[in-house]
Amino acid sequence: MDAGKTSLVGTGSPYESLAGLAGSHGKYFGTAVVHDVLFNELDPPHPDLCAGYAAILEQHFNLLVPESEMKMANVWKSPALIDFSKLDRIATWARDRGMKMRGHVLVWYRSLPPWLVAGYQDGTYSKEQVATMVAWYIDQLMGHFRNSYPGLVIAWDVVNEAVGPNDPRVAPSYGLRPPGIDYQTKGEDFWRLTLGDDYVARVFNWAHDADPDAVLYYNDYHNEYSNPKGEAIFDLVEGLQAKDVPIDGIGLQCHFEVSYLDMSYPGMDFSLASLGDTIDRWTVSGLDVQLTEVDIGRSSNQEARQAAFFGELLSLGLRRDGVSAFVTWGFTDLVSWRADQSPLYFDRNLEPKAGYQAMLKVLEAW
Ligand code: G3I
Repeated sequence: MDAGKTSLVGTGSPYESLAGLAGSHGKYFGTAVVHDVLFNELDPPHPDLCAGYAAILEQHFNLLVPESEMKMANVWKSPALIDFSKLDRIATWARDRGMKMRGHVLVWYRSLPPWLVAGYQDGTYSKEQVATMVAWYIDQLMGHFRNSYPGLVIAWDVVNEAVGPNDPRVAPSYGLRPPGIDYQTKGEDFWRLTLGDDYVARVFNWAHDADPDAVLYYNDYHNEYSNPKGEAIFDLVEGLQAKDVPIDGIGLQCHFEVSYLDMSYPGMDFSLASLGDTIDRWTVSGLDVQLTEVDIGRSSNQEARQAAFFGELLSLGLRRDGVSAFVTWGFTDLVSWRADQSPLYFDRNLEPKAGYQAMLKVLEAW
C-alpha cells in the first residue's frame, strides 16, 4: 500500500468521527478488528498499514469486535488452558481509549477445538463431559472479562448461526442445523450432537450463570429480512423466552451484496423495508437489536450503489430506537474475509470510499 496517501492518520484530521457522531445519540459505531494488523504482527510486516489501521480505528469507532481471536478453536488450546494473550491486548487497547467491545462468540458450530472433537469421537469425553467442559469454558472466558475488564464487553454473542440456511439440503424444515460433526460439507452442528436439541437454551443459561450482568445475544445471518430462516429464528427465540431463558438481544449480521437489491425469490423479501419491519418485530418481542457484521459485496461497477446501500442501511438501522449498535465486519477492503468483493468503506490504501461519505452524511444530518 502507499502509506503516503493515508490522509486520515493522526489527530487533526479534516474528517469527523463516525463514532463521535453516532455516540452523541447514545449509539455504538463498531468494527471487527484483527489483532495481528492492529499490533503490527503481519508476516511479512506492513508497519505503515498497521499504523494507518490503528489510527482509523482510534478515530472512528467506539466498539470493537475481535474478528476471530475469541473463537473457541483459537483460544481453548487444551482442556484446562485458555489462551487470553491476543484478547488481552485488544481489550487493553480498547479500554485505554474508552471504547467498548462485543464478545464474539461463545459457541459456534464452525469453531471447534480439534482436541475436543477428537476426544468425543474416540470416547475420551462423553456428551455429559463435553457439557461440563463447555460450561467451564464459558465461565472462565466471561469471568476473565468480568474480573479484568469490568464494563468493557457490552454484548456477548452467546450462540452463533444455530439455525440452518435457506438450503433444503441442509435444513429441510428450517430449524436447527442437523446434529453431527461434518460442518464443512454438511453444515452439521457438533453442539446439537453433544449438548442436545435444547443446547441453545443450555448455553444461554451457562452464560448467565457465568456473569448475571452480561447482555446476551443470539447472532445469525439471513435473519435480516422476511424469509423462512428468519421465521425459524423467531420461533427459536420465542421458545427460549417462553422458558425464561436469559436472552437480551438479537444480532443481525448483515453480510449483504449490492445485488440483493435486485433479487426476488418466492417467500423472501430482500428490501430495506423488510429489514426495517424485521427490526421492529424484534423490538416488539423485547430484544435489543444490533447490526453486527455489516459488509456489502459489490462488483466493479457498483461503487455508487454500494455507497447508497451503506447510507440507507445506517439510516434505517441505527436511527431506530430499538437498535443500539451498527458494527461493520472490518472497515478497509484490505482486511476483509471477502476482500475480492471490496465490501467495506475504506479502500486498500485506507482512503475513504463513497460509502464512508454516505454514512458520514447520514450521521451529520441526524
Ligand atoms: O491466520 C491464518 C493464516 O496464518 C493462514 O495462512 C491462513 C490459511 O488459510 O489462515 C489464516 O486464518 C484464517 C483466518 O480467518 C484469518 O484470516 C482462517 O483460515 C479462516 O478460517 C478465518 O476465517 C474467519 C471465519 O470467520 C472463520 O473463523 C474470517 O476471517 C471471519 O471474517 C469469519 O467471520 C464470520 C463470523 O465469525 C460469523 N459470521 C460470519 C463471518 C464471515 O464468515
